Amino acid sequence: MTHVHVVYAHPGERTFTREVLDAFLVGLDGAGHTYTVSDLYAAEFRSELTRAEYERESGQRPDAPVPDDVAAEQAALAAAGAWVFVYPVWWADCPARLKGWFDRVWTVGFARKTVGRPTVADKALVLCTAGYDIAQLEASGCYEAMRTVMLTDRIGERARASDFVVLGGSAAAGTAEWPALKTAHLARAAELARSV
Ligand SMILES: Cc1cc2nc3c(=O)[nH]c(=O)nc-3n(C[C@H](O)[C@H](O)[C@H](O)COP(=O)(O)O)c2cc1C
Repeated sequence: MTHVHVVYAHPGERTFTREVLDAFLVGLDGAGHTYTVSDLYAAEFRSELTRAEYERESGQRPDAPVPDDVAAEQAALAAAGAWVFVYPVWWADCPARLKGWFDRVWTVGFARKTVGRPTVADKALVLCTAGYDIAQLEASGCYEAMRTVMLTDRIGERARASDFVVLGGSAAAGTAEWPALKTAHLARAAELARSV
């Protein structure tokens, strides 16, 4: 059994990405895993660094305090064996709110190893939805670019194992192919949860 912290970033209510999140959480429940979820839009998580936060990070001051919302995220991550990021691909990256989550939560002393030991998880899973299908994302180079940014840079050595999964092709929503593709994607999300 694994305790999982899920970071979710989508502003909509009834969306494909929300269905992926729900399928993933049902899969966690079914396998007996426990979890916490940070819904960044519901929580109105602030994505911009303040000047004080910038000065703490650029000055590499691990002993300086971090804001309460950042400390809460770091505590949830430290309590979990696996970290999961669920979001839609927007302009070949995560939504700005999640990018800002990395800017603010990956602080010196917590996630940056230039000073102090970084916090480490057994596993990190990046699970995102995309309008393009995988073949299109690979042909454009975006798949490899996104994978490199998320796994090599943002996760890096902070997880002992990591995986990048794109549930692509949602631009087909409304076509005859979409229902079967969506069902397969939701089944995959549930399966990934079971083996997290
Ligand atoms: C602002 C915006 C930018 C997007 N950029 C991309 C993109 O760069 N690549 C891609 O494959 N899909 C892109 N999409 C499509 C979304 O990834 C897709 O709508 C989402 O993953 C699934 O839909 P949902 O919003 O119902 O969850 C974009 C969508 C929006 C709204």
